[in-house]
Amino acid sequence: MTTFRILKLFISFESKELKLNYLISLKLPLKEHLTQISNVLVIGCGGAGLRSAIEIKKSGLDVCILGKRPKTDAHTVLAAGGINAALGNLDKEDSWEQHFIDTYLEGYGIGDPLKVEIMAKESPSLVKEIDKWGANFAKLKNGELDQRFFGAHKYRRTCYSGDFTGLSILKTLLKKSDDLKIPIYDNQYVTELLIRENTCFGAMSFNLSTSERTVHLADAVILCTGGHTRLWKKSSSRKNENTGDGYYLSLKGGCELIDMEMVQFHPSGMVLPEEIEGTLVTEAVRGEGGKLINNKGERFMKEYDPKRMELSTRDRVAIANYTEIIEGRGTKNGGVFLDISHKSKEFIIEKLPSIYRQFLEAQMLDISKSPMEVAPTAHYSMGGILVNPEDLSTSVEGLFAAGEVAGGLHGANRLGGNSLAEIIIFGRRAGIAASKYSKNIDQQMRSNKAIAIAHENINKFIKNGNELVRPLQNELRLIMWKYCGVIKNETLLLEGLSKIESIKTKLSDVDVRIDQYNCEDLALIFDLQSSLFSAKATIVSALQRNESRGAHQRSDFPL
Ligand code: FUM
Repeated sequence: MTTFRILKLFISFESKELKLNYLISLKLPLKEHLTQISNVLVIGCGGAGLRSAIEIKKSGLDVCILGKRPKTDAHTVLAAGGINAALGNLDKEDSWEQHFIDTYLEGYGIGDPLKVEIMAKESPSLVKEIDKWGANFAKLKNGELDQRFFGAHKYRRTCYSGDFTGLSILKTLLKKSDDLKIPIYDNQYVTELLIRENTCFGAMSFNLSTSERTVHLADAVILCTGGHTRLWKKSSSRKNENTGDGYYLSLKGGCELIDMEMVQFHPSGMVLPEEIEGTLVTEAVRGEGGKLINNKGERFMKEYDPKRMELSTRDRVAIANYTEIIEGRGTKNGGVFLDISHKSKEFIIEKLPSIYRQFLEAQMLDISKSPMEVAPTAHYSMGGILVNPEDLSTSVEGLFAAGEVAGGLHGANRLGGNSLAEIIIFGRRAGIAASKYSKNIDQQMRSNKAIAIAHENINKFIKNGNELVRPLQNELRLIMWKYCGVIKNETLLLEGLSKIESIKTKLSDVDVRIDQYNCEDLALIFDLQSSLFSAKATIVSALQRNESRGAHQRSDFPL
């Protein structure tokens, strides 16, 4: 336990404003929406959401999943390289205890020990389970799961399907959900959690094509909405995903956020072409023998971590790449070289098929012949909603959170391959806990007032204004990259904060139009609102942590 374990962050939501909204909303007809009722509502249709819903359905309850992105293309597909489980299939000495030690220590001692222990203990059985359900991970000749090296793991522990492990897990969970007839509405944008007397009883959403609103009533709600790394200019997240929605919704609802400054920069994002700058180049490339090289032809990791070289922790490798680039030893396009061309083409196509294709398609580059150019990219939010590590409950009754949106597991540095383990383990646990909660409650909470406020909080954005949302989003991304990037300091952070405040003042003057075919503007303004609050939470937390630790590097507090 360190003094920095809990960095609670409360951003005051102006009670005056809420009161005003409520008064206005009283004039609105309350029935202008559809109503949907389930025992448990899951928000987010990635791996954590699907895994939790499967458990809820198996317990005999009704569950409904909402998502804002196509369910077959949730962000889970981008966790490419693998999923960790201390199976010891290749390295017999491996154990859950060693997985615990690697995760906790390489998280610089600020992860929640109990959460880490749960993950290390439960991943072997749940990885085998999802493999049986159809994920069909790579196998050894004896039929056991193959395991590859990932950075900073003492042993080979990462099970995988080529370099598309997240995709194979997502497809498996979708198939299972389909078999169980779990309804998934992946065209719903959730704008508000419905909460009264610190009890969550559902959510308000609108249909992304028609703008039709639905009030979802439920005994319990599970947030599985991912992180906020799309807020940085260079990001491995795609357009309109990981915009910090869950942080905004939960913070507004009364939850606490922890460790928001702990944003993981993955060492290897694509440098070109600019439109997809930051796109992930999986760690599996280094796991399978890829070498990092600067413009002098030096394998520079020997200066940063001579023992583990390219398989050092992500924070160290990211800082090494960053340092080589800013000190002038990078490539002319602003990256460093990542070279796997010493391996045969057959090997590369077998182990890294997606990356092979990705470079051919984006750059016409054959990575079996030439090195790639890579640079750090914002990849994963390690902080998030404060949850009970065993049942994933939050400080709001009936509200649970699992996956990237929840904090506590990774501390100051996440080991590659732990995020896919996290979503299936804690997704399952959240599903079990929410089902139990639903079965045990005596009385269901409802509030017309909360619903009226949720309506008004949509209505207030629909108007002709002088600002456009995309340029504001872009401005925010540039601010986060420049003022809250790989290396920060107090001056930069304070400047970034004031720039964010100035974008916030424009929020009420954004032009948002909807018609029967298009309500993209409306989704984007909510994305921006969430992003602005998440950005502020991140910077305020970064200002509070007066030290350098893992992914949080302060040049005014050097190591
Ligand atoms: O590099 C990767 O394949 C990413 C995996 C992860 O973030 O766990």
